Amino acid sequence: MAKRKILTDNDPTLRTVCRPVPRITPRIETLLDDMIETMRDANGVGLAAPQVGVLLRAVVIETEPGTVWELINPEIIETSGEQEGSEGCLSLPGQSGHVKRPNFVKVKALNRKGEEYVLEGTELLARAICHETDHLDGRLYTDVAEYMYAPEEEEERVSPRLRKYARRRER
Ligand code: NI
Repeated sequence: MAKRKILTDNDPTLRTVCRPVPRITPRIETLLDDMIETMRDANGVGLAAPQVGVLLRAVVIETEPGTVWELINPEIIETSGEQEGSEGCLSLPGQSGHVKRPNFVKVKALNRKGEEYVLEGTELLARAICHETDHLDGRLYTDVAEYMYAPEEEEERVSPRLRKYARRRER
């Protein structure tokens, strides 16, 4: 396994619609292994292939430490409910925003053996599935955020009253 470089900010790769994985080859398995290592190294809960410069429809998610979901050619087939909360992205370091997402998501994908499976998630897992599959269509959470939070370093300069307000809205 090897750590790969995470593309950030205005890299056009992050805005490109990815192609389906045509066939699972050893190269794809290496890509998945590297994505897991890269995600863990960056303390992320998910990573999409375009974030490491590969324009293929593959994501890894680890919202629960030790349980990694590998989704190849994922397709969201059902959503319901709503959740609101803070969201960030390894490709947009130092930023976070307030994003509404469905509270339940059902997604169909292939695993690395090429077998189709269905994953159902609520709360953080549902959020991660939406966030990561959006990456495959060149979408970032900032496109759908209700508003962005002040950067951490800036937050220190914000008055305590405003800070409290920001926290209240976060809940
Ligand atoms: Ni992201």
